[in-house]
Amino acid sequence: MKSSTHAIVVITAFAMTSSGFAQRAVQPPRQGPPPGSQQPQGPQTGEHPAQRPHDKHTTPPFRPANPRQPKLGDPLPFLTPKQLADFYDGKDDFEQEEDIEGGLGPIFNRNACSVCHAQGAVGGGSDVNVTRFGLLADGVFDPLEDLGGSLMQDSSILGHGIEIVPPIANVTAQRNSTPLFGLGLIEAIPDATILHGVKKRNPDGVVGKPAMIHDVATDKERVGRFGWKAQQAHLLSFAADAYVNEMGITSRLFPTENAPNGNLELLAQLDTIADPEDTTDPVTGKADIDRAADFMRLLAPAPRVKPTRATQLGGVLFRKIQCTACHTPRMITGPSPVRSLSRRPVWLYSDLLLHDMGTLGDGIAQGPASTTEMKTAPLWGLRFTAPYLHDGSAETVDQAILAHDGEAKAARDRYEALTTEQQQRIVEFLMTL
Ligand code: HEC
Ligand code: HEC
Repeated sequence: MKSSTHAIVVITAFAMTSSGFAQRAVQPPRQGPPPGSQQPQGPQTGEHPAQRPHDKHTTPPFRPANPRQPKLGDPLPFLTPKQLADFYDGKDDFEQEEDIEGGLGPIFNRNACSVCHAQGAVGGGSDVNVTRFGLLADGVFDPLEDLGGSLMQDSSILGHGIEIVPPIANVTAQRNSTPLFGLGLIEAIPDATILHGVKKRNPDGVVGKPAMIHDVATDKERVGRFGWKAQQAHLLSFAADAYVNEMGITSRLFPTENAPNGNLELLAQLDTIADPEDTTDPVTGKADIDRAADFMRLLAPAPRVKPTRATQLGGVLFRKIQCTACHTPRMITGPSPVRSLSRRPVWLYSDLLLHDMGTLGDGIAQGPASTTEMKTAPLWGLRFTAPYLHDGSAETVDQAILAHDGEAKAARDRYEALTTEQQQRIVEFLMTL
């Protein structure tokens, strides 16, 4: 029975959270280089600069092993000591297991960001999916907000109010957790650059639509670029959204709890912590949402693999069959106070626009995205992000390409018409990004 498996989830979450604070307090010190070690040490994944001795005369200067190519999960290169400290503080926050006193729930999906974002390194994707539901009637999509939609929360702190897909819903969709490497660069791309990529209809019928949204962090109209539907434009907004929707922790940006399947009476019974639960630290002026955003903003993109002749040929084919109509290889960031984010090339392989993907659409209308529209998935770091597609339904890159439809059908058909060897070259090329 469904509820019995859920009960296990609840107990696990409960047991984990009751030790959440203790676990944080006894976290072993991270491995740093031995003080006075002769070799200049790069930041190993998980190393915490705060644990380093500060005496300039005995400590080698902080320098990444290869400043231009940080390892997976490492911070961007050339950060100031303050920025580096913000990165590691944010990372602690991102890995923190939340508990009931800290505001977890009443309903939630998982109790730490890193439960869903840790493939390859903290900040990666995972095979964890979340569920969305809604009602499509006469061509109009209703997210069933009064019944707890469109995002479902499948866990509860006390075992009451675990959400179910309401019987009236006729659309359900799975959404796979995405990797967060390099997102600071995507955040720093000016809206105008994305808007510039909107095409007049090309021979394949590729258009692309910017996801114009109201951003809660800046209170401005912006071009969305994060999430499968480009539903957010700012990392702070996404962090706050994830805190309330994945963990049930309210913040200054999203001060209202989700009611279990819309049941406000049950919410009132279960919710004992005053909102907003994520409060600002008077010393740093930051709340958890700010720290999580710092971590994501300063997280380096996945390192690229050195090209070979074969993968270069794959790249030529990728362009030739017009995958680049949507998977734009490169954009440039605007000015930023962070040196490594300022006027930098971003090799993301996406136009960050919404496209009508026909049968590959997920059936959920969200913000400006219709039921069939999806944002072009960035292809950088692809070798760390299986399974593929918004629902994680493709085990291989080849399957993901063959599932393209709608505006991408012509390119997909050209891929299918290639020889097996040529197809493999494209996949090998994508695995170097
Ligand atoms: C239950 C699993 C789960 C948890 C917990 C979770 N996420 Fe996510 N995350 C997802 C899924 C699924 C998506 C894709 C959502 C979508 O687009 O609908 C996502 C997407 C994102 C994105 C957009 C990435 C991109 O490339 O556009 C950001 C940013 C993000 N999450 C941050 C966080 C933060 C910060 C936390 C902790 C506060 C968190 N997430 C907790 C599952 C999770
Ligand atoms: C019309 C725009 C468009 C074209 C053309 C296009 N794609 Fe995509 N691509 C997308 C969108 C949108 C997604 C996300 C789809 C989803 O999961 O819902 C995507 C996803 C992918 C993914 C999976 C990424 C992931 O993280 O799951 C791969 C791989 C990919 N595309 C490769 C290609 C290749 C190779 C071609 C050329 C044959 C191509 N695409 C042509 C829009 C396009």
